[in-house]
Amino acid sequence: MTAAELRGMYIDFFVRRGHAKIGGASLFPENDSTVLFTTAGMHPLVPFLLGEKHPAGRRLVDFQKCIRTGDIESVGDSTHLTFFDMLGNWSLGDYFKREAITWSYEFLTGREWLGFDPSRRSVTVFAGGDGVPPDEEAASIWEELGIPSDRIHFLGREDNWWGPAGATGPCGPDTEMFIDTGRDACGASCRPGCGCGKYFEIWNDVFMQYNKTREGLYLPLEQRNVDTGMGVERTVAMINGAASVFDIPAYAPLMEFLDARSGAPAPDQSSMRSRRIVADHARTSTHILGDDLGVPPSNLDQGYVLRRLIRLSVRHARKLGIEGPFLEDMARLVIDAESGVHPELGRNRSFALECLAREEAQFEKTLQGGMREFERLLPNLKRNPLGMVPGRVAFTLYDTYGFPVEFTAELAAEHGMAVDMEGYRAALEKHRELSRAGAERKFTGGLADHSDMVTKLHTATHLLHKALRTVLGSHVEQKGSNITAERLRFDFSHPAPMTDAEIEEVERLVNGAIASDLPVRIEEMGVDEAQRAGAIGLFKERYGERVKVYFIGDFSTEICGGPHVERTGGMGRFRILSEKSSSQGIRRIRAVLE
Ligand code: ALA
Repeated sequence: MTAAELRGMYIDFFVRRGHAKIGGASLFPENDSTVLFTTAGMHPLVPFLLGEKHPAGRRLVDFQKCIRTGDIESVGDSTHLTFFDMLGNWSLGDYFKREAITWSYEFLTGREWLGFDPSRRSVTVFAGGDGVPPDEEAASIWEELGIPSDRIHFLGREDNWWGPAGATGPCGPDTEMFIDTGRDACGASCRPGCGCGKYFEIWNDVFMQYNKTREGLYLPLEQRNVDTGMGVERTVAMINGAASVFDIPAYAPLMEFLDARSGAPAPDQSSMRSRRIVADHARTSTHILGDDLGVPPSNLDQGYVLRRLIRLSVRHARKLGIEGPFLEDMARLVIDAESGVHPELGRNRSFALECLAREEAQFEKTLQGGMREFERLLPNLKRNPLGMVPGRVAFTLYDTYGFPVEFTAELAAEHGMAVDMEGYRAALEKHRELSRAGAERKFTGGLADHSDMVTKLHTATHLLHKALRTVLGSHVEQKGSNITAERLRFDFSHPAPMTDAEIEEVERLVNGAIASDLPVRIEEMGVDEAQRAGAIGLFKERYGERVKVYFIGDFSTEICGGPHVERTGGMGRFRILSEKSSSQGIRRIRAVLE
């Protein structure tokens, strides 16, 4: 079975039972600040779970893409993914436990539906806690349907409670459905919910009957709802008798690609884990970038998760012996395979591919610099009798070379050492305090004639210049610039009006660079050296001179007198107000930082 076939069947089953099919939402929750990503179908539906009327009715069926970063450490085993698709049927104050459980049973068992062998099924129900009684009702419905009582397990809050993690809102006990893979149990206490991989959880019916208040009370909800979630990859794996979620048709092109590029004959245990991590992270990264609200890699929030996924996948690809860029190729495979189901991937294709290629190349440089430095320090580090890499060394590797502490830890482990993480965090915190104090001084003192905003707009002008060349082409040249405390104005050569899409893309690149909190560095050099460094700006009049070159991360390199901000983070949101003709072949942009 393929994911598409399962989806078709599921939707058909519930549509026949009076459910209206609704579309899934973005991976970026628009009205829910409690999570970075949509982790389940409930986020976009919260208002309706709390009683607002849904335009499609009270019985819904949907298909939602999800990201769960909490599972990132577990990726590599047979069941965990950071990105997955989830099918769900919903009752908004309509049916409750009996119908939900009965339909789950029918869909799992029915010959014309999934037809799982009854002897492979088991379920868990809520054992009670925090003033909520055990869910005897759910257990007795399962028993009536034919699940023997020794395959109905009562488990606590950790396993059988669903709700917004730690936050307030609709929640309740759930009942989870498992398929026995037939593998040996890991021990006497092995049961559904055990992480050894014998039991695959494929579906969860949540009975949302409480609203958790700020005070931590569980008050009965006026409208009782059902929220169910079936993991598509896991269910397909179980139907096909596959060994893991990675052994389903959707991952075949990615695995084949990795095998071909790594040239490894048969994967062993450790390379198996690395293959799965690269495949998972490449797919998740492609979906983060390919979402209509997608963001580029950065040091903040979702952009940071993306950066981490990309870096981990590069690291594991190297372990597999894959040299050179590979992420863009993998993203193409994901987009080709999935843009039928997730059309936004096709819409955002070039953005996704470009961001991946750029980030990968930049990280490759970082890695090489950091590893060289680590090797250089190694003889000294080895003399430490505690086998510890001091925190400040790990911090310097991060601060000067951009080398992530996780990588230092891995290199250290390869030499039988560990990193003093507490010392590392202390050094990081101290550095943050110092740079905050520095930034305040900078904007109150030193820059007598340049207000904070003018400085920021000046840096924004460099970002804009670079973004225009990226989007429109390298014929774009600065023809003039004027900055006030309110706005920037930038004139440049370009033969035609910009399209809305081009304007949006330029804004997106500039805002991406801002969100990435790039460091700004100055170097003085000869004009020809600046030219070799790829600097843009006014060369002709300056031949033979020494000039100041501003580097904004890897994003922009430009000759300029300054001043500029020290880092791009916190500049605000860049918005183009207008794009007009200024004279023959010259366009003029006015833009602000909000
Ligand atoms: N919201 C429930 C889950 O994701 C269905 O498991």
